Amino acid sequence: MINVWDLAYLTGLTPWESDTPPSELTELIEKNIIKPCRVIDIGCGTGTTVVYLAEKGFEAHGLDISTVAISKARKKASSRMVKCTFYNIDFRETSIVRRIGEFELAIDVGCFHSLHPGIDRIKYLNSLNTILKKDGKYLLWCFKKNSLGGFGPPGVEEDEVENLFKDNFKIIEKHVIDTPFRILFFYFMQKIK
Ligand SMILES: C[S@@+](CC[C@H](N)C(=O)[O-])C[C@H]1O[C@@H](n2cnc3c(N)ncnc32)[C@H](O)[C@@H]1O
Repeated sequence: MINVWDLAYLTGLTPWESDTPPSELTELIEKNIIKPCRVIDIGCGTGTTVVYLAEKGFEAHGLDISTVAISKARKKASSRMVKCTFYNIDFRETSIVRRIGEFELAIDVGCFHSLHPGIDRIKYLNSLNTILKKDGKYLLWCFKKNSLGGFGPPGVEEDEVENLFKDNFKIIEKHVIDTPFRILFFYFMQKIK
């Protein structure tokens, strides 16, 4: 069944799309802080970051709830002649997510902050805890709640993120990126158990 994300990708109403991966990620890789490993991009969209990671020597996997986005991601990987693995799944479905195996690195550029606070975010965390190995790294980008003047995703509050993740994760780095239209949080975390 078609969902709102499919509609966005079909109509091109996807202001989040970019031809380049986030600079926080590329810097961590260039500084050798993040090294090639088995990585999953949660809510990978059309696969720009997954393709970049494959080109950098990672075993790169991406998942997304949108069939349209995953189809575009597969075409992008094939046109760039890199091996990537894409899954069209809902990350809240832990029993399905667990079938894709375990990862040393998980990244999320804008998926978590799109989920409504409450049960959806708890399900997300269950899935993340299931597929990310102990000591694995997790990179999260999310908008602050209401930072787009009521438009866009629900967003997050810092204390919500930090409380939700505190049992199983420690924060290695946190950036608060303040721009005229939005406040963006970037978290670099490590799974501690
Ligand atoms: C704001 S977009 C960001 C896409 C991509 N990370 C990027 O930076 O271009 C959020 C993405 O999360 C996906 N998504 C939303 N809810 C999801 C879920 N429950 N499981 C998997 N993907 C989901 C959407 O289809 C969409 O591609």
